[in-house]
Amino acid sequence: MKKYTLKVQEVRKETKDTVTVCFKQPGLKKIKYLAGQYLTLQFRINGRRYIRPYSFSSAPVIDSTLDITVKRVTGGIISNHINDNIKVDDVIEVYEPIGDFVFENSQDVRGVTFWGVGSGITPLFSMIKDILVNQPSVDVHLVYGNKSNSSIIFKKQFEQLKVDYVSRFKVWNFFSQEEFFEEDSHNKKGRIHKKFVEDLMKSTHSTDRHYICGPIELKKTVKKTLIELGYSENSIFSEDFELIKNPEDFKDILDQEVLLSFEGLERNIKVNKGKSVLEEALGLGIELPYSCQTGNCSTCKGILKSGQLKMIGLDRPRTDLTENEYLLCCSYPLTGNVCIEV
Ligand SMILES: Cc1cc2nc3c(=O)[nH]c(=O)nc-3n(C[C@H](O)[C@H](O)[C@H](O)COP(=O)(O)OP(=O)(O)OC[C@H]3O[C@@H](n4cnc5c(N)ncnc54)[C@H](O)[C@@H]3O)c2cc1C
Ligand code: FES
Repeated sequence: MKKYTLKVQEVRKETKDTVTVCFKQPGLKKIKYLAGQYLTLQFRINGRRYIRPYSFSSAPVIDSTLDITVKRVTGGIISNHINDNIKVDDVIEVYEPIGDFVFENSQDVRGVTFWGVGSGITPLFSMIKDILVNQPSVDVHLVYGNKSNSSIIFKKQFEQLKVDYVSRFKVWNFFSQEEFFEEDSHNKKGRIHKKFVEDLMKSTHSTDRHYICGPIELKKTVKKTLIELGYSENSIFSEDFELIKNPEDFKDILDQEVLLSFEGLERNIKVNKGKSVLEEALGLGIELPYSCQTGNCSTCKGILKSGQLKMIGLDRPRTDLTENEYLLCCSYPLTGNVCIEV
């Protein structure tokens, strides 16, 4: 993957636990990306390399800087590092933008509904701006869940977009922990739920595409309800910020030794039950390539030379992988003779 060094032009506090970092575009060759894609950042802290993907909150052409918006994760190394330490003029290494959580327009799309919770709003914000500005015939609905009014990321920006695109942009806010507010038709208590999805879809007939980003419960509720309502799987797109593991899938996994061949060196590593080959290798300082850690980008691909591996947590069948290719961020050894080449 192509690497760039970007300079921080601005750091904006969005809420008490979220910042937007705006990078200056390189002077000569501007970085191209699509609304909804993500940038992969690389840090070195106490000698260890950390790589994390962050969706663009900026939209191409509309925003002059490349913006990412990062919410603190409790105990998280990089999200807290970015919130606490990143400042104007810092220089950060990034990999070229990737991701297929993007809006592809076709003539027949009249409306798009975005479903987001918390920091999941980031790629949605990028796509919403892009569609409102560049697709004048497409209506946009946003259903956005937060703990409280003060935890809404991009609150002011959404208020402005509602004014600028009054006939095309509508927002419904859900608050799971806000105590002092009057419920009305656009501000609701609790979490986004099945009945609301059904009622909204019955009252608005123009949604042809759905984009979901947030915790697994949001995706499950919204996707399942939409499918029950007759929406095809092909019209529903989602992005996961975290790999979801089902403990049931680990029943046949044991601690195993794995022989890893990378950059001409062979290393025997112990892969403990529950840890992926990638996680264990990174923990030992073996700097394998990776980005999303959710089984989507394929950056962590390895070739299985012997033994058996099992991939766990993949969101969709991967027809692009050949028989011996495995995504090491979600690969777990099933046998004791596993040998992998990267
Ligand atoms: C495609 C993609 C786009 C992303 N875009 C954004 C974005 O726009 N804004 C943003 O804030 N984050 C985004 N993320 C998540 C981000 O990459 C990091 O995973 C997150 O910031 C946590 O990193 P960390 O180093 O702080 O935590 P780590 O030190 O890696 O993890 C600490 C603990 O937190 C848990 N954890 C990890 N990630 C999450 C999470 N997302 N939510 C809750 N718990 C978690 C881990 O299981 C672990 O137990 C995105 C992830 C993906 C895959
Ligand atoms: S790191 Fe993206 S698929 Fe494994």
